[in-house]
Amino acid sequence: MVLFIFVALLILSTASCELSCGYHSCNQGEADKLNVHIVPHTHDDVGWLKTVDQYYYGANSSIAWAGVQYILDTVVQQLSVDPTRRFIYVEVAFFSRWWREQNTEVQQEVKRLVQEGRLEFILGGWSMNDEAATHYNAIIDQMTLGLRFLNDTFGPCARPRVAWQIDPFGHSREQASLFAQMGFDGLFFGRLDYQDKETREMKLKMEEIWRGSQSLHHPEADLFTGLNENGYNPPAGFCFDAYCKDDPIMDDPTLEDNNVKQKVDDFISAAHKQAKHFRTNHIMMTMGSDFQYSNAKAWFKNLDKLMKYVNSAVRYKNCFFLWSVKSDDFFPYADAPHQFWTGYFTSRPGLKGYVRESNKYLQVCNQLETVAHLRSGMKSNLRTSKSNVLREYLRAAMGVAQHHDAVSGTSKQHVANDYAKRLYIDVISSVITEGSSNLTFCDYMNITLCDFTQNSNRFTAVVYNPLARAVSKYIRIPVDCTPSYIFVVIELLVPVSEATESVRRNRGNANCELVFLAKLPALGYNSFSIEKYKSSATNKRLFTPKGKVVNPSDDITISNESSIVIVVITNKTSQSYITHFLLFGYFLSSIYFERYIIFKSPTGAYIFRPNSSTPFHCSNDGKVKLSVLTGSNPLVQEVYQKFSDWAYQVVRLYKGIKHIEVEWTVGPIPVKDQWGKEVISRYETNIDSNGYFYTDANGREVLERKKNYRPTWKLNQTEPVAGNYYPVNSRIYIRDAHVQLTVLTDRSQGGSSLSSGALELMVHRRLLGEDSKGVAEPLNETGQFGDGLITRGKHWLLLDTVTSSAKQHRLLGEEAFMSPLVMFGGATPPALQSFIVNPLPPNIHLLTLATTNSGELLVRLEH
Ligand SMILES: *[C@@H]1O[C@H](CO)[C@@H](O)[C@H](O)[C@H]1NC(C)=O
Ligand SMILES: *[C@@H]1O[C@H](CO)[C@@H](O)[C@H](O)[C@H]1NC(C)=O
Ligand SMILES: *[C@@H]1O[C@H](CO)[C@@H](O)[C@H](O)[C@H]1NC(C)=O
Ligand SMILES: *[C@@H]1O[C@H](CO)[C@@H](O)[C@H](O)[C@H]1NC(C)=O
Ligand SMILES: *[C@@H]1O[C@H](CO)[C@@H](O)[C@H](O)[C@H]1NC(C)=O
Ligand SMILES: *[C@@H]1O[C@H](CO)[C@@H](O)[C@H](O)[C@H]1NC(C)=O
Ligand SMILES: *[C@@H]1O[C@H](CO)[C@@H](O)[C@H](O)[C@H]1NC(C)=O
Ligand SMILES: *[C@@H]1O[C@H](CO)[C@@H](O)[C@H](O)[C@H]1NC(C)=O
Ligand SMILES: *[C@@H]1O[C@H](CO)[C@@H](O)[C@H](O)[C@H]1NC(C)=O
Ligand SMILES: [Zn+2]
Repeated sequence: MVLFIFVALLILSTASCELSCGYHSCNQGEADKLNVHIVPHTHDDVGWLKTVDQYYYGANSSIAWAGVQYILDTVVQQLSVDPTRRFIYVEVAFFSRWWREQNTEVQQEVKRLVQEGRLEFILGGWSMNDEAATHYNAIIDQMTLGLRFLNDTFGPCARPRVAWQIDPFGHSREQASLFAQMGFDGLFFGRLDYQDKETREMKLKMEEIWRGSQSLHHPEADLFTGLNENGYNPPAGFCFDAYCKDDPIMDDPTLEDNNVKQKVDDFISAAHKQAKHFRTNHIMMTMGSDFQYSNAKAWFKNLDKLMKYVNSAVRYKNCFFLWSVKSDDFFPYADAPHQFWTGYFTSRPGLKGYVRESNKYLQVCNQLETVAHLRSGMKSNLRTSKSNVLREYLRAAMGVAQHHDAVSGTSKQHVANDYAKRLYIDVISSVITEGSSNLTFCDYMNITLCDFTQNSNRFTAVVYNPLARAVSKYIRIPVDCTPSYIFVVIELLVPVSEATESVRRNRGNANCELVFLAKLPALGYNSFSIEKYKSSATNKRLFTPKGKVVNPSDDITISNESSIVIVVITNKTSQSYITHFLLFGYFLSSIYFERYIIFKSPTGAYIFRPNSSTPFHCSNDGKVKLSVLTGSNPLVQEVYQKFSDWAYQVVRLYKGIKHIEVEWTVGPIPVKDQWGKEVISRYETNIDSNGYFYTDANGREVLERKKNYRPTWKLNQTEPVAGNYYPVNSRIYIRDAHVQLTVLTDRSQGGSSLSSGALELMVHRRLLGEDSKGVAEPLNETGQFGDGLITRGKHWLLLDTVTSSAKQHRLLGEEAFMSPLVMFGGATPPALQSFIVNPLPPNIHLLTLATTNSGELLVRLEH
């Protein structure tokens, strides 16, 4: 039997056809043949084992030989010499940098290649973003940055049609929805659960329609999705990169080593094997891999030969069919039994928190720069202004941070980019004070550290609200509350906690936090004068927590003194007291910390694999040291829990606020026993959740999860804990017919519900082993003091009826994500101001208010 294969480049035009960009330049193939679309590509991580700069220039080659500048140099040369050659390029962070270094001639040549469809941009984001730990706001921004560069540089011809997420470690439904709404026609990716892949290959479901949204009317969020047969690598034996070990095609007929027949046979057989898994007679082969084509000649020369020799044709089934539809997602990802890539949902929690916070700074700066632009009658020259440079810098830094080895926590090292934030205070300050004074930030308010406020007797707190609706928020400011000081216009002073003292060590001398409720206008700020003077009177506003209190108070009962705090919440002043009491009267939320000990190997930055399904308590003897700030003060009740020297929690219930705030402080995680540890916060209730729980996708829509279950195949569960972990970007909840407990997070974390009524979130991890997925170093982060990293963060717990929970957690989530920005200045406060005439209703979110380079306003509203 003779088999024929038609081999074509992805975007090959026939000789008679005019070269052009878009689908016209695509080889349509032949109806009765197996069409193998060869896609020459390179996968250029925007930072992973090396920094972005090192990757670009090819520096530090002992770690990895990779230099993106050479890839683009040689690919462009090789495309130029032969009009039948094609290439796709993905990461605009690298491309834009290379582009700026080229002279006009090269730029003209590249423009020609793009116009002719020979160099095609795919995806076109600044980076290929992670899908588990990224927030949709940041995804949209990083895609905008890359796509705008392409449009500005090459015009609409360069517009990517296909999204290309070949490497991220699992795929979110929201990502598919966003791509569909951005106008992409399809999505391809390489990594999915090994069991899922086997099932799909068998059922010919390697290509499907992915329904990305439960709430948008289809087909608005529908996206054609193709799964790559070989991840993103070539079939075995066909890697022709200069650094590959496979033989080139040796085609001298007189040569004894002539391998043409062997290569052709192997290729045809690989093609047919792959074709068995697909429904149509078109299949794709990804010819390239990580940082390949740094000498593009090797690849292209062999591909040319391969196509020349294989190019014959086959009979083939041609099918008419409807694509099947998928409406869940591709999390969690396991590439083998016990190998669940669910550790990275939490890896590098400090970085994850920082990326989330930086996004807020970027949004605020975009907003205020726009205010300044409008004030100038839209005449400010943004292209040349200083703020333009800063904005582009921060936008690019955020684009890089979304990369699938950055915010995911799977890179070798991370260089915290405080620089960008510092630059930005200039923009914010000049708009708010209209240039009349300087405001400052305190970066370490999270650990009650601020030289400015703790050392001044008189200052102003300026609190900016980036939401387009008014909010009231409790603010805490580090101050010196030596008893002889009396503060004016403040509501409450709370001594800094033991946890805070242990985190900040010898830094700072603030001994109190000043707590007050700030009423903030929509998209605007309010300012507060803070003044203190010496007095011999006692400070009546200073409330000190008491240790080991077990008295039931009005709203919080501490009833388990030995190991676990039981918080019973009743809101007796509420109108709906009866309902709440009936619903919640039986509800016990025990809030505590535990830790998983992990297998020494294989576990690491990507993989989570605890050595037992029962976590260990964070205190050695199971006891927790408690103290309580009771209801005798007017503003807040606080329960302080010390599990050990490295694990603390504070549980807060503010006056008039429905949710509980839990502040966790974890680290340095002890590893002297030579065991890595993953610390979880587990909330237990008697909600009858029956194995179901709900997690958000990228901070937007929510998906239903069920323990030990996948909606599209029969799961053979190999990891009872790790195999049930899902990314939690902003919220996770459990519910029964009446009650819902929602936990909102301030950063991405892994989370699950392993038993009915319980929720857990992994907040921190420190590992001594390595999972052999490429990073080749243990995730053993050190903090500023050389020992293990300490991280602090917050959970917000909302307990409500199922029906009112949805609205509550939407609003609260938005308030957590775009929380007020606190700045400090001298004694004269700028007057309260709102930059919006009519605040937006609560169901409309102002996602983007920004000014483009050319001075247009960009407004994104979200229902
Ligand atoms: C190159 O990599 C080595 C090993 O990780 C590292 O120690 C060194 O600092 C790196 N050099 C630069 C310039 O980053
Ligand atoms: C894309 O570029 C074209 C000109 O080449 C311009 O007309 C269009 O407005 C640009 N689109 C965007 C979204 O910037
Ligand atoms: C703001 O700070 C800068 C640098 O410290 C200083 O040059 C400038 O005069 C200050 N502006 C005002 C209005 O205080
Ligand atoms: C505290 O709670 C734990 C778990 O429910 C229980 O085992 C323990 O007996 C309780 N201790 C007290 C003093 O109630
Ligand atoms: C898990 O780690 C703990 C802590 O070292 C150890 O006591 C226990 O025996 C380990 N369990 C297994 C199954 O390895
Ligand atoms: C109780 O809840 C209501 C709203 O349901 C709220 O207005 C009231 O301030 C809350 N009371 C306390 C003490 O938190
Ligand atoms: C489940 O997976 C494990 C690990 O690969 C394997 O040993 C076992 O046979 C599988 N069970 C079933 C029912 O397929
Ligand atoms: C982990 O980091 C600590 C410093 O914080 C260091 O002493 C220890 O050797 C590291 N262990 C491994 C396995 O990297
Ligand atoms: C506090 O915030 C700063 C700035 O975002 C961050 O670098 C630091 O890691 C945080 N500290 C803790 C203990 O989380
Ligand atoms: Zn990658």
